[in-house]
Amino acid sequence: MQVNFKGVTADYQIGPIRSRNILHHVNLCLPSKSFTAIVGHTGAGKSSLLKTVNGLLLPKEGKIQVGDQTITPELQSKVVLKHVRQSVGMVFQFPESQLFAETVEQDICFGPMNFGVSKEEAKKSAKDAILNVGLEEAVLSASPFSLSGGQQRRVAIAGVLVMNPDVLVLDEPGAGLDPQGKEEILTLIKYLHESKGITTILVTHDMDDVARYADDVVVMEKGKVVTYKPVHTFFNDVVQLHAWSLDLPEARRLQLRLEEEANVKLPKVCLTIDDLVAALIEVGLA
Ligand SMILES: Nc1ncnc2c1ncn2[C@@H]1O[C@H](COP(=O)(O)OP(=O)(O)OP(=O)(O)O)[C@@H](O)[C@H]1O
Ligand SMILES: [Mg+2]
Repeated sequence: MQVNFKGVTADYQIGPIRSRNILHHVNLCLPSKSFTAIVGHTGAGKSSLLKTVNGLLLPKEGKIQVGDQTITPELQSKVVLKHVRQSVGMVFQFPESQLFAETVEQDICFGPMNFGVSKEEAKKSAKDAILNVGLEEAVLSASPFSLSGGQQRRVAIAGVLVMNPDVLVLDEPGAGLDPQGKEEILTLIKYLHESKGITTILVTHDMDDVARYADDVVVMEKGKVVTYKPVHTFFNDVVQLHAWSLDLPEARRLQLRLEEEANVKLPKVCLTIDDLVAALIEVGLA
């Protein structure tokens, strides 16, 4: 499902009269089944942009098209919002903080039952969802609060997946997990993206995540989209990245150092250590 931002401006009300502009004329068309990373400094508007995708934050001007649904400033229709929220799964930062029910199963069933799915159907879907996020069926009867942080995050993601979203929007899903837990979550997200063809939008501060998992990158600055490029092109332009004070992925940093020290130019932009090893072998340096 395509997500198309057309001239989107948004603000937050910060008092009875005053408001503050947060997004400025965002034009961005993310194709169906794409995996896009959104990066930028703190306060750039990344989370706010995500919120517009499922109507949590309505635009002040412009519109967002999600598949054949359109979110506009004057959108009052609960039917459209319901459709949009069914199609767009949203994983907030620290999603496990929203777990609330006595058992994992009840927690996961809450969404579908709210949308009118029968208890029996919801339970069946909950079982599929829990297996899909790599947990065992037995977890369904456990209290969400008896699980580890990484497991809780998987349960929270299962609660989003159970709605069968066409678009998955994730706000720093690896935050606060140890490196292994983080890698597991992101590998899971990539797997779901590939196996179900879900259009995925990932906000992250980690350039290694961008390099490893995304196909395209959006950079936001002060509420504006300042670039939108495929990852290889993006990480090729080191001078521009430096100007934005954005890091490079580890493999790309190593590549530049090796190129400088050995006075060679490797044939391609290396985004992972495997890429780098292959390129070194190709030029006879390994
Ligand atoms: N509910 C709110 N009410 C008023 N202002 C807000 C609200 N949420 C965010 N803002 C402001 O909007 C701007 C953009 O915030 P946003 O959370 O979208 O940034 P971000 O890029 O996600 O930052 P971070 O990387 O720190 O998560 C910031 O200046 C922030 O202070
Ligand atoms: Mg944020």
